[in-house]
Amino acid sequence: MHFLVRNKYGGLLTEKEIGKEVIINGWVNKRRDHGGLIFLDIRDRSGIVQVVFDPGEKESFKLAQKVRSEYVLAVKGKVRKRPKGTQNPQLKTGNIEIEVKEMQVLNKSAALPFELGEADKVSEKLRLKYRFLDLRRKRMKGILELRHKVVKTVRGFLDENGFREIETPYLTKSTPEGARDFLVPSRLTPHTFYALPQSPQLFKQILMVCGFERYYQLARAFRDEDLRSDRQPEHTQIDIEMAFITEEDIIKLAQSLMLKTFEIIGVKASFEEMKYDEVIERYGSDKPDVRYDLKIFDVSKVFRNSEFKVFSQAVAKKGSIKGLKVEGGGQLSRSELDGIVDKAVELGAKGLLWLVKEDSLYKSPVAKFLSDEELKGLTKATSAKKGDLILLAAGDTKLNLDILGQLRPILAKQFNLIGEGFKFLTIIDFPLFIYDEEEKRLKSHHHPFALPKKGSIKLIEDEPLKVIAHAYDMVINGVEVGGGSLRIYDSVLQQRIFSALGISKKEADKKFGFLLEAFKYGAPPHGGIAFGLDRLVMLLSGSETIRDTIAFPKTQTGADLMTGAPDAISAKQLKELHLKTD
Ligand code: AMO
Ligand code: AMP
Repeated sequence: MHFLVRNKYGGLLTEKEIGKEVIINGWVNKRRDHGGLIFLDIRDRSGIVQVVFDPGEKESFKLAQKVRSEYVLAVKGKVRKRPKGTQNPQLKTGNIEIEVKEMQVLNKSAALPFELGEADKVSEKLRLKYRFLDLRRKRMKGILELRHKVVKTVRGFLDENGFREIETPYLTKSTPEGARDFLVPSRLTPHTFYALPQSPQLFKQILMVCGFERYYQLARAFRDEDLRSDRQPEHTQIDIEMAFITEEDIIKLAQSLMLKTFEIIGVKASFEEMKYDEVIERYGSDKPDVRYDLKIFDVSKVFRNSEFKVFSQAVAKKGSIKGLKVEGGGQLSRSELDGIVDKAVELGAKGLLWLVKEDSLYKSPVAKFLSDEELKGLTKATSAKKGDLILLAAGDTKLNLDILGQLRPILAKQFNLIGEGFKFLTIIDFPLFIYDEEEKRLKSHHHPFALPKKGSIKLIEDEPLKVIAHAYDMVINGVEVGGGSLRIYDSVLQQRIFSALGISKKEADKKFGFLLEAFKYGAPPHGGIAFGLDRLVMLLSGSETIRDTIAFPKTQTGADLMTGAPDAISAKQLKELHLKTD
C-alpha cells in the first residue's frame, strides 16, 4: 500500500475504541499549537476527531508543525480518553482523542480563499467558484445527504406502488412548458437543432400509450427563463404518469408521496385542498403561504359611493377595493408605512392606502375624504381593533389581487407572522387557459395537454377563460413543489385546444404530430404530476435558496462559476456545426 489506509472513520470513533490502535484518513479541519503539544482536528465524511502530537514522537511532531488547514493526512495512533476538563461536548467524538504514533501527509493544500468555518460570511460567488471547498462543509454535506435520502424514499415508494423508472431522451424536440428552450445544434444534420426537454411530458404520455401504465423518472428538465432563488436553468423533476386513473387517485398518491418524504425530517402532517378561484380570492396567488392568516378582504360595497374618487371610480369601472389587515401593524412610523406603499407601487400598483385604527377613527393620509359611515363600515367589515393596520388597493380586481398577493409574504416577513412548521396545500380546478396581457393571447395555464373538465369542454371556443381543467398543484409554505393534470387522450380534442391557443393544424402536426399519431392507436385515459426535487429539498433542509440543494448550481445569470460555463467555442467547433455568431 502506498499510504496508510484507514481502518476506521475518525468521526465514528467512540469510547469503545479506547486503548485500540487505529488508522484514520482525512483533512485537517483545524490546527492548534498549545505550547509543546499540537492538536489537529481531522475531518472525514463521518465527522471530526482530535489527534494529538507529543514532542516525544519527534518525526511526526516535526511534520505536524508544517501541517496547515485542509492538508490530507493519514494518522496512526492509539485512542485514549481525553483528560478531565478538555472534553468537547460540541463534538460527537468529544470525549476521546488519538495519540499519534505515525503520520503521513498525503497531500498539501494551498492557502484557502476562505476559512470553511467562515463560509457563511463570505459572498455566495466565492463559495460557488470554490464549490469543492464549500461542499466540504458539514451543512452542505448534510443537505446533499438529505437529498440522497429523499431520492431513495421516492424511488422506494414508487417502486412499492408499481411504478417503473424509464429514461426519456435529453436530446429531443421542444416540449412547451412555457419557458424558452435550450437548443443544441446538430452536426450531422446541418441547420437543425435538438431542444433539451423542459419536461418529459410528451414521452411520458407516449409511455402510457405504450402500455406501461405506471411510469416515473428522476429527470432533468431544462428551461431558459429568468432565474430566482427557487429556479434553476436545469432542475430535477420527480416525474410521474399513470394510465386508467382518476384525478382523485393521482392526488391521493402524490400527497402520500409528499407526506412520506416529509417523514424523513420527522414531520407528520396532512394536506388541505382548495379550489383555484378560492385561493386567488383569498390570497391573491396560486401558491399562497398559509402559515399566516392575512386573508384578502373586499370592501367595495363600503366605499362605492365615496367622495374619495380613487374608491368610487374603481367600483364604477367594475373594479374593486380590496385590502389586508395586519393586527397590531399600526406601530410603524409614517415613513415605514409609506415604505409599504412604495413597495406596492414598485410591484405595479397604482397606489395603496394605509389606515391605522385608533380609538374610534383612523389615522390615514386620506382620512379626511372618508365619511364616518364609510369608516364604520370598514371597521365592521374587517373587525379592525385599535392599533391594527389596514392597507387598501382600489382598481382592477385582478391587479388588486395580484398586488396584495405579492404584499402578503413581504408583510408576513416584516411583521414576523410566519409560523413554524409546514402547511401542505393541494390546489385543484385550475383554469385551462390564462390570458397573457403582454402578448395579448391565450396561453395554457399548465401546458396544452391538460384535460378540460367535461362540463366545460363546450366553452373552449367561445369562453375559453371559463374552461376548468383537471389540473392541480401542490404548494408547501408558499412554494409550488408540484403540478400535474389528467391529459387529453383524444386527437380531436387535442386539436381543438391547439386551435384555441392559436396553433394551426400544420404547426401542431410539425411539432406534436408524433403525439397526435400515437393517440390514434388506442391511447388510454391517463394523467400524472411532476415534483421539483430541488425545491422539495430546499424546504426539507430549511435552505434559503435552491442553489444550496444542488451540488454544482448556476447563479442567477445562469453561470457556473466553478467551470466558467457558459463559454465561447472555437471557430473550428462553430464551423463543424455550421453556425456563425455575430
Ligand atoms: P411544472 O412546470 O409545474 O410541470 O414543473 C413541475 C415542478 O418542477 C419544479 N420546477 C422548477 N424547479 C426549479 N427550477 C425551475 N426552473 C423549475 N421549474 C419547475 C416545480 C414544479 O412544480 N410536465 C409538467 C408536469 C405534469 O403535468 O405532469 C411540468 O413540468 O416544483
Ligand atoms: P393621488 O391622488 O394619486 O395622489 O393618490 C392619493 C392617495 O391615494 C395616495 O396615497 C395614493 O397612494 C393612493 N392611491 C392612488 N391610487 C390608488 C389605488 N388604485 N388604490 C389605492 N390607493 C391609491
